Amino acid sequence: MSFRVLGTGRCLPERAVTNAELERFVDTSDEWIRQRVGVAERRVCTTETAADLAAGAAEAALQMSGVAARELDFILCATITPDDLSPSLACMVQSRIGASCPAMDVSAACSGFVYALETAAAFFARGRVKKVLVIGAERLSRIVDWSDRNTCIIFGDGAGAMVLEEGDNYLASKLTARGCDAVLKIPAFGGASPFWEGGVEKPYIRMNGQETFKFAVGAMVSDLEEVIAAAGLEPEDIAWVIAHQANARIIDAAARKLGIPFGRFAKNIDRYGNTSAASIPILADELCRDGHLKDGDYIALTSFGGGLTSAACVLRWGP
Ligand code: UT7
Repeated sequence: MSFRVLGTGRCLPERAVTNAELERFVDTSDEWIRQRVGVAERRVCTTETAADLAAGAAEAALQMSGVAARELDFILCATITPDDLSPSLACMVQSRIGASCPAMDVSAACSGFVYALETAAAFFARGRVKKVLVIGAERLSRIVDWSDRNTCIIFGDGAGAMVLEEGDNYLASKLTARGCDAVLKIPAFGGASPFWEGGVEKPYIRMNGQETFKFAVGAMVSDLEEVIAAAGLEPEDIAWVIAHQANARIIDAAARKLGIPFGRFAKNIDRYGNTSAASIPILADELCRDGHLKDGDYIALTSFGGGLTSAACVLRWGP
């Protein structure tokens, strides 16, 4: 027993920030960002908190699913930018939507949403849950160094969610981790004690873009090949690949190697940038609400990011 997806939801901050606006902060251009990353604008919180976004996405997913918050047996929230380290973002969502079940955050950077789906699958397999809410929510604008053109042009804020119910539609999955802080790192926020003899790093995203790029393409290709085969499918059986939206060129490079038609790689990075753990459920919700996901479709999710981590899975859509 694993699960099936009952419904999806998303919530984005109101404020859209264009590339032209970023030209005021850093030495960049709209043309460079569109060509090298594929982003035209991203959403950035002005008054919204991560809990606002996460609860908004959760409520939309519950409404689509016809599930009441009190029916939930577990809430998992994938995030690296909770408003507070404690309470967890998942606990704040639980309180905001009026649920009473256990709740916890999952930290696996941009791979977090698929890591959280796998965690949910383990609870379903144990027979401990009937309905689970899984959220990916980020307020990355808090941890972006707005003077670093290598990162501030990429990231955005947002949240997406799925409501899962017992079923057999989680067909195959793969998680990887390779502990390494040299390529992608976000130091935790914190001061120093009077006894600490080391330095204190600023809590901003630091990224070696080219190394991350290479890791991302390799991970996407090998993870997808493996999960599609493990699901007993061929690449051409996949109706949609919902890939983490980090850079449009990463998705195109992986698509070329995989032999899945380009048109089946969904994209919304042009409007939202890279929203880390939120990017997959936001995109899934757009596809679902626009009527692109049909019952019986095989959907592949694939993600990669800090850790370094990667995660992929194959789902059958519908009942
Ligand atoms: O979700 C977490 C995982 N993160 C990712 O997956 C990010 C993966 N990496 C990337 O998306 C890309 O590596 C970046 C978008 C970060 C950078 O793109 P790139 O094509 O790898 O650029 P680059 O670092 O190789 O730089 C190429 C040129 C350089 O100029 P020269 O040396 O050729 O004259 C840079 O100085 O582009 C310049 N450059 C920029 N120019 C305008 C670098 N950043 C910018 C910028 N605006 N923002």
